Amino acid sequence: MIQAKALCAAIGANQVLRDVSLEIAPGELFAVIGANGAGKTSLLRALSGLLPLQSGAITFEGRNIARVPAHRLSRSGLVHVPQGRQIIPGLTVRDNLEIGAQNVGLSRHAIAARLDEQWERFPVLRQRQSIDAAALSGGEQQMLAIARGLMMQPRVLMLDEPSLGLAPQIVQLIMQTLRDLADQGLAVLLVEQVAMLALEVADRAMVLRNGACALSGPSAELLGSRDLVNSYLS
Ligand SMILES: Nc1ncnc2c1ncn2[C@@H]1O[C@H](COP(=O)(O)OP(=O)(O)OP(=O)(O)O)[C@@H](O)[C@H]1O
Ligand SMILES: [Mg+2]
Repeated sequence: MIQAKALCAAIGANQVLRDVSLEIAPGELFAVIGANGAGKTSLLRALSGLLPLQSGAITFEGRNIARVPAHRLSRSGLVHVPQGRQIIPGLTVRDNLEIGAQNVGLSRHAIAARLDEQWERFPVLRQRQSIDAAALSGGEQQMLAIARGLMMQPRVLMLDEPSLGLAPQIVQLIMQTLRDLADQGLAVLLVEQVAMLALEVADRAMVLRNGACALSGPSAELLGSRDLVNSYLS
């Protein structure tokens, strides 16, 4: 589905990605964990066309996408839910969702069908569909950010620290939602700083440190080497 080979990228003089490779299949939940500043967001930005590569290759469904602009990628099914959610204040919950779908050019009919799916997945958003999105709680805003990503009919969904600042109960719900989406056939790339949380739901994972892959493998194996994983997280 999506494959990245030896990605290198810099922000100014700062080398933020060093030879990072990964591959995610449909139905798979892949976690990228790492400390503050490890390069997790940079990796997502590189994959979604927002951070230029110095070298390396990215293929999405067999197509080379290393130089395709971000808006074209989201139209073709590679969707990035950014760190900090970036919902649009001043617009209702429903408008935030519809705008997500309009961005990728869905018909009215398709938008209505996608909306129904989101209402079913997150009933609280249905209840609150007519209020200003800025009035939602942090957890509801994260649900909205995920639902907005799902409005774009992704085949790969990438999420940047969806647990950030949320109560444990909401975090559990978000993680379970991501697991369900993978089980329904989506390729999910989850970036998390809370490593154990991510390892518990993911199939495979990578530990990033200083922009490079320090460790990778099946999540169960990484959970079995907790001490080693933790040694890379500080
Ligand atoms: N706009 C920027 N200008 C300069 N350096 C940046 C910029 N954005 C990020 N960096 C640097 O790039 C490196 C990787 O940052 P990145 O945001 O990818 O890390 P992260 O793993 O997502 O961290 P966090 O957990 O804090 O979100 C860090 O050293 C950071 O200081
Ligand atoms: Mg980040």
